[in-house]
Amino acid sequence: MIRFILNDKEISTHLPAGELLLDLIRYRKHLMGTKIGCREGDCGACTVLIGEIIDNRLRYRSATSCLTALGNVYGKHIVTVEGLNLEVSGKKLNPVQQAMYYEGATQCGFCTPGFIVSLAGFCLSEDEKSYENAIASIDGNICRCTGYKSIQRAAKSIAELMQKNKGDIIEYVTSNSILPKYFADIKNRLLELNFKTNGIEASTNSKKYLGGGTDLYVLQHEKMVHADIDFLFNKNNLNGITKEGNKCIMGASVTVTDLMESKIIRDAFPDFRKITKLVSSTPIRNIATIAGNFVNASPIGDFTILFLALDAHIILSDGVTKRELALKHFYKGYKQLDKRENEFIEQIWFELPDKKELFNFEKVSKRTHLDIASVNTAISIKTDGKIIERASISAGGVGPVPLFLAKTSSFLENKKVNEDIFNEAIEIAQSEISPISDARGSEDYKRLLLTQLISAHFIILFPKLKLETLCLPKGRAQN
Ligand SMILES: Cc1cc2nc3c(=O)[nH]c(=O)nc-3n(C[C@H](O)[C@H](O)[C@H](O)COP(=O)(O)OP(=O)(O)OC[C@H]3O[C@@H](n4cnc5c(N)ncnc54)[C@H](O)[C@@H]3O)c2cc1C
Ligand code: FES
Ligand code: FES
Repeated sequence: MIRFILNDKEISTHLPAGELLLDLIRYRKHLMGTKIGCREGDCGACTVLIGEIIDNRLRYRSATSCLTALGNVYGKHIVTVEGLNLEVSGKKLNPVQQAMYYEGATQCGFCTPGFIVSLAGFCLSEDEKSYENAIASIDGNICRCTGYKSIQRAAKSIAELMQKNKGDIIEYVTSNSILPKYFADIKNRLLELNFKTNGIEASTNSKKYLGGGTDLYVLQHEKMVHADIDFLFNKNNLNGITKEGNKCIMGASVTVTDLMESKIIRDAFPDFRKITKLVSSTPIRNIATIAGNFVNASPIGDFTILFLALDAHIILSDGVTKRELALKHFYKGYKQLDKRENEFIEQIWFELPDKKELFNFEKVSKRTHLDIASVNTAISIKTDGKIIERASISAGGVGPVPLFLAKTSSFLENKKVNEDIFNEAIEIAQSEISPISDARGSEDYKRLLLTQLISAHFIILFPKLKLETLCLPKGRAQN
C-alpha cells in the first residue's frame, strides 16, 4: 500500500506503484486544477510540490506530476493548486493567486495553476528570495497567451513579499495567510507517517529500475504503470553527496538539484549553478537523477558529458555483488551498456579538482530551457597556466555514444599552453567524432559546433591569452 499526504489528507492506495501521480490527482481524486498539457515534462501545466523530511527539515520542491510515479511519492507531502487555497471555498485568494489576478497574468487560464504552484514552491524554498530566483522557479512553465510580462510582474511582487521574512518559512507563510494553516502540521504528520510505514520493497525479480522517471515516463508511460519496478529514487540509502578525502561520492538517487545545492559541489565548481541552469528546467532538475542520465545513454546526455570529463566512476550492484567501472568504459555502442539486466548504479564517484584544475561545460541547443543539446562538451584540465599536466575532454551529439575524446585528451598532456596546441587539439577532436545529420543539425553543422565549443573552452579557461585564430574551421576566413 502506498501512503502519502495529498494537500491536507492522508492517502492510502493499492493502485499500482507505477501509476502516475497526475492520473491519481485528476481521475481518482478529481482535483482538476492540475492540468494536462504535454504529458512529457515540457509545459508545466501539471506541476505539483513534493515535500519531504530531509535532515529533519521539511523541504519542498516542484515536480511534473505527469512523469512522477506513485512509488516515488511514498511517505511525502504532495501539494496541488487546490492545496494552496486559504479556504475550502477557494473564494479568498492567497497572495500568489492575488498577484497573478491583479497583474492580469492569466488569460485562458490553462497554465495558471502550474505557475501558481511553482511560485508557491519559490515561497517555500530555502533559496534567497530574489526576483531572479522567483523567475527561475517558473522556468518549466509555458504560457501560450500572456506574453509573460504580467507573470514577471506577479513574480516580482511575490519576491518582495517573501523578502520581508527573516525567520522560519513555514511559520511565516502560515501566520501571514500566504499559504493555508495546515502546512504548519505537515512535518509532524510526515514523521508519524514514515514511522508507521517501511517504504516500498521491490520484488526480487524487478525488471525496471526507476530514478525520477523523466526519461522512462516520456518514452514508456503506459508500459510503466504495471511494470515490476525497483524505486531507487525513494531509497534513503541511495541518497546524499559526501566527501571522503578528495573523492566526491554520490548516491544513485542524487538529482540535478541536489548537485546544484551541494556545498561540496559549489566549493569545487563555483560556476556549477550556471552550468546546470542550461539543463532542462527546475521541476525536471528536481527529480531527474544523475544515474538515470548515465543509463539513458543518450549521446547528448548533459550530465554524462559533464562527468565523462571529470573521469567519474560508477559502482554497479546486483544487490549481492558490486563492481566498479570508469564511466568512459560504460558505453559499448548506441544505447548498449556494460551492465547486466539485474545491475543498477548504486554510487558515482569522482576526484574533486584541486586549485590547478580548470573545468568548463558548453552546450548548444535550440532554446535555453527544456531542451536537449545539439552538441555539448566538457573539459577538465590541470595546468599551472604554462604547461598542461592532464586534460580530459568529452563531447556529445557527435557519435552514437557520449564520447570521451581519448586522443585529444592525451595529445594535450605535457604540452605548452598556446594557441597552436589548442588548434591541433581541435583538429584531433574532429578525427575522433562521427556525427550524423538529423533533426538537430547536419553533420557539417555539428562538426562546426564542436570546433567552436572546444574553442570556447580554451577562450574561457585561458582569458589572458589572446586566442585570435581559434574557432576557425580549416580553410575558412575569419569574419
Ligand atoms: C522536459 C525534459 C527536459 C529534459 N532536458 C534534458 C537536458 O537538458 N539534458 C539532459 O541531459 N537530459 C534532459 N532530459 C532527460 C532526463 O531528464 C535526464 O536524462 C535525467 O537525468 C534522467 O534521470 P531520471 O532519474 O529521470 O531517469 P529515469 O527516467 O528514472 O531512468 C532513465 C533510465 O535509467 C535507468 N535507471 C535510472 N536510475 C538507475 C540506476 N541507479 N541504475 C540503473 N539504471 C537506472 C532506468 O531504468 C531508465 O532506463 C529532459 C527530460 C525532460 C522530460
Ligand atoms: S503535462 Fe506538460 S509538463 Fe506535465
Ligand atoms: S493564460 Fe493561456 S496558456 Fe497561459
